[in-house]
Amino acid sequence: MITGALHLDLDRDRPVALHRQIETAIRDAIRSGRLPLGAALPSTRTLSADLGVSRGTVVEAYQQLTAEGYLSSRGGGYTYVAAGARPPRPTPRPAPPSRPRIDFGYGRADVSSFPRAAWLRSVRRVLNDAPGDRLGYLNGRGSPELRDALSGYLNRVRGTDIDPDHMVICSGFAQGVSLVLHAAAARGARRLAVEDPTSQDAVQVARALGLQVVGIPVGEDGADVAALAASDADVVVLTPSHQWPLGAVLPPESRAAVIEWAVRRGALVVEDDYDAEYRYDRAPIGAMQGLAPDHVVHAGSVSKTLAPGLRLGWLAVPHDLADAVADAKILADRGSSSIEQLALADFLERGELDRHLRRMRPVYRRRRDVLLAALRERLPDLEPTGVSAGIHLVAWLPPDLDEESVIAAARARGVGIAGLRPHRMSPAGRDALIFGYSSIGERAIAEGVALVAEAIADVRGR
Ligand SMILES: Cc1ncc(COP(=O)(O)O)c(C=O)c1O
Repeated sequence: MITGALHLDLDRDRPVALHRQIETAIRDAIRSGRLPLGAALPSTRTLSADLGVSRGTVVEAYQQLTAEGYLSSRGGGYTYVAAGARPPRPTPRPAPPSRPRIDFGYGRADVSSFPRAAWLRSVRRVLNDAPGDRLGYLNGRGSPELRDALSGYLNRVRGTDIDPDHMVICSGFAQGVSLVLHAAAARGARRLAVEDPTSQDAVQVARALGLQVVGIPVGEDGADVAALAASDADVVVLTPSHQWPLGAVLPPESRAAVIEWAVRRGALVVEDDYDAEYRYDRAPIGAMQGLAPDHVVHAGSVSKTLAPGLRLGWLAVPHDLADAVADAKILADRGSSSIEQLALADFLERGELDRHLRRMRPVYRRRRDVLLAALRERLPDLEPTGVSAGIHLVAWLPPDLDEESVIAAARARGVGIAGLRPHRMSPAGRDALIFGYSSIGERAIAEGVALVAEAIADVRGR
């Protein structure tokens, strides 16, 4: 192996001769494995020119290291790392965490059903057809093709009122909510309200930005709007179509009250529309953004429809916030991958997302039905809630069980499951388990519930 440029730090202010500094640096590089056995060093002429030292200085260093057995000269005029040098000690890699055999993890589409062939067709079309300028930097809003395709799709399917010029393509909801909060904080927002319980994305970003965070209790009808009105918040993040994680739907009168509050206070509502594509036993509910596009940010991503690994999401923001959010996107990462954006645009335009969802809805519905039946049979004292939509459900635990013990006992039996506590804003509240059912087959769901039942028997038997 021929080594190209060799980076060595020389400090001309140190009272150490330059040939000694070169020796030490090469010796260290060999010991650490940065220069592997058999690697050829640059010629003395090249290295002396690179380092701005006399050739004699490099020759002296090479000779010393050859005498010590670190280097050897062979035919062809090259100097090599000699076989006698100490090989780098392999650093032991930490063992990967063992994965549960049956995983009720939540928050993702079934990636084993990702429509690879259709996505590949879209990527191929993009690579064949996209004009060269689409592969350069895009502006902070993202690809116009994707914003057109998405606004058309969302206005049709979610009842939104989205102008593609007011959209920003981002790396999923996680980045989207961060961009909005940065823009809102720059505009003077001081206090964020979130549902309690909630996913922690917005909470963590807001705290890092120095915003106060207040939890709004969630009941059977979603977030408590009176508590929101009393919260003194400037921004609220809501999941009105399917409260995360409890599954309630915010009724029309509460939606109207939230919008009235936002208009009165000049506050911003962020609507996390994370899994609206899946509903089983209830009427469709349009997005809130359609009621007040100047006060509601609509945020979504493909994490629950296609795959979270695509890291593709979007924001539709009020017109007076669009530039600030687009600037925040540029500052964050100069824009999401243009090829992926164009591929999603093509995928949407060709109706592939509609097709994929038509295929997946009955699959998820059957998994949910199997889960509910298994819970009824094996764990009748757990109370499922939020079951009529989405790809997870919450099951309340009876008062004699605490979720941490059940989760640990389930884990010991090879089942991964999450609890509600990490998502609570207030310490008090009933314990519960979150069953994600998107990514496990029906048989494994039934087996997983049986194992959770055994885990609960273990906990009760202690
Ligand atoms: C409440 C909620 N919103 C949004 C998302 C999607 O996040 P992202 O788009 O960053 O993958 C998730 C994923 O688990 C979620 O639980």
